[in-house]
Amino acid sequence: MKFGTLAIHAGQEPDSATGAVMTPIYQTSTYAQKSPGVHQGYEYSRTDNPTRTAYQACVAALENAKHGLAFSSGLAAMDCILHTLRPGDHVVACDDVYGGTFRIFDKVYRKLGIEFTSVDLSDLSKAKAAFTPKTKMLWMESPTNPMLKILDIAALSQMARAHGAISVVDNTFLSPYFQKPLDLGADIAVHSVTKYINGHSDVVGGVLATSNTALYEELKFYQNACGAVPAPMDCFLVLRGLKTLHVRMEQHAKNAMEIARYLEAHPRVERVIYPGLESHPQHALARKQMSGFGGMITFFIKGGLSEARTFLEKVEIFTLAESLGGVESLIEHPAIMTHASIPAETRKQLGIHDNLIRISTGIEDVSDLLADLKQALG
Ligand SMILES: Cc1ncc(COP(=O)(O)O)c(C=O)c1O
Repeated sequence: MKFGTLAIHAGQEPDSATGAVMTPIYQTSTYAQKSPGVHQGYEYSRTDNPTRTAYQACVAALENAKHGLAFSSGLAAMDCILHTLRPGDHVVACDDVYGGTFRIFDKVYRKLGIEFTSVDLSDLSKAKAAFTPKTKMLWMESPTNPMLKILDIAALSQMARAHGAISVVDNTFLSPYFQKPLDLGADIAVHSVTKYINGHSDVVGGVLATSNTALYEELKFYQNACGAVPAPMDCFLVLRGLKTLHVRMEQHAKNAMEIARYLEAHPRVERVIYPGLESHPQHALARKQMSGFGGMITFFIKGGLSEARTFLEKVEIFTLAESLGGVESLIEHPAIMTHASIPAETRKQLGIHDNLIRISTGIEDVSDLLADLKQALG
């Protein structure tokens, strides 16, 4: 079946008890057993819950994976993956990751004896040089956040495999609609569901997908043992969001392309970064490994913090807020907001300057969005 059909139906049969077309919210913590150990596949909702089972199966189908596991946040999903490491293990990670990803590496797992090397993975020779005999994991985010660099997932996953390391792709920015990391050779795709997968800015959640059954068993053990699972109501909301993922992603990308072109031609804009623009340094790679360019745009306004601040105070339809991937357009200042947990010196090296602005293009009528940008830039 094609993506749009899977988004609506995968993992979701009409309810066997009542015929309900929508998967019920199984708002229960426990399940009756006929005799000790004799039950219908469900014992306790941290371990398994039918609403979560449907959601996990749907995401697995969309990522072209055998297995899915859902969590109470994107970071909880990442935490589960990082639990597979042991003290002394080494991780090669892209230098331009989401601030919270950097924080869990640097402030949580480093303390537990895991080593991390941050490297510009868009340069394959630098990537190769970063591997050591202790490297057990390669962590990618593509497009990166907020600089929207594109990583060659196929080449990097192959490199990881050659070194006996697991490859992980944070696929939050594109969703499985525009990019399927497992098809490109990665072992795990992970998402902040809070973003495009749920898509309505009303759930915090995370999910991962893999086709490696042994790895899945280990991750499922940690999901249950550590317990950061989503509530049944959140699973239901994400299932509902998933049903329009393909429609939303098309509109996000269409609007983003128009906005990126508008900004690129604007005299008050220094530079625009959007993978769909021919001016993007990795536009060709983006075309090759992604089936669409997504809704995220980064741009440098001419001037510094004061110009950025004035502009951000003037927008009316765009909401000044952290997060991304919802139906509504959001705008933010990475240096002060989403990436504040990255040391100032590192931010500077990465190019996250005070005049950098990040847009999460929503699916409103694009003419209204363009008019809002025009008045705020004016
Ligand atoms: C690319 C990316 N990965 C992971 C996360 C973390 O997800 P969550 O906030 O759902 O824990 C975020 C959050 O902004 C993100 O942007």
